[in-house]
Amino acid sequence: MKVIIVKDYEELSRKASSIIADALQRKKPFVLGLATGGTPEGCYKELIRMYQAGCIDFSHVITFNLDEYVGLPPHHPNSYRYYMEEKLFRHINIDPKNIHFLNSKARDLEAECQAYEEIIKAVGGIDLQILGIGRNGHIAFNEPGSSIDSRTRVVTLSHETRIANSRFFSSLEEVPKKALTMGIGTILDARRILLLASGPTKAEAIKATIEGPITPAVPASFLRIHEDCTLIVDLDAGSLLSSLNKN
Ligand code: GLP
Repeated sequence: MKVIIVKDYEELSRKASSIIADALQRKKPFVLGLATGGTPEGCYKELIRMYQAGCIDFSHVITFNLDEYVGLPPHHPNSYRYYMEEKLFRHINIDPKNIHFLNSKARDLEAECQAYEEIIKAVGGIDLQILGIGRNGHIAFNEPGSSIDSRTRVVTLSHETRIANSRFFSSLEEVPKKALTMGIGTILDARRILLLASGPTKAEAIKATIEGPITPAVPASFLRIHEDCTLIVDLDAGSLLSSLNKN
């Protein structure tokens, strides 16, 4: 894994957005995998800024979001669909028919997950997948214990993840217990992966991801087997890495 260490969240957001903007210019159509959570927000703001300045075009971009809570309708303010509309889609020239989301209100959730895999395949696979990381090393909603060949499926969220994500809800009880998520295998199929980590709460997970064993106990550690994965990490999230602690 290539590791880029940046000073802070602002630099991380600028660096991530410039990598994405550069990639989008190189291929048409371009299939972009998107993540939610606090971490990519700054990057999405930068992308909007670039779009408004006329430096970037999304008309040829096809998106697939990583995951969605089960039980929240798309217009629910805590759904990931709503997040994406607010933080990115409604500000740029993406064609709504090119936006793909797991429908967590589908009657048959297993069939919905299977269909998502098929659509990704049908458009030729994901060119660039953006990822955040959970405090317990999860990626998308692949919690510790997820296997390397897991595919898009229904998962149960860990208590730890529900607590971490409860900051976006008014109480812990409101955080759904289940979600739909791309699997580790689905993510590893992307041609290129960009993992973003910021802040001291991610330091343990980043150390385990980069320097620990490759293990289902730390789902993000599987990214080390990918041929083209870049981690952008700020000084706080990277603070436990040996490379930053020499001498
Ligand atoms: C959620 C999402 C992940 C995200 C993680 C970290 O659990 N499903 O995709 O990476 O939160 O979020 P944050 O960036 O807010 O720390």
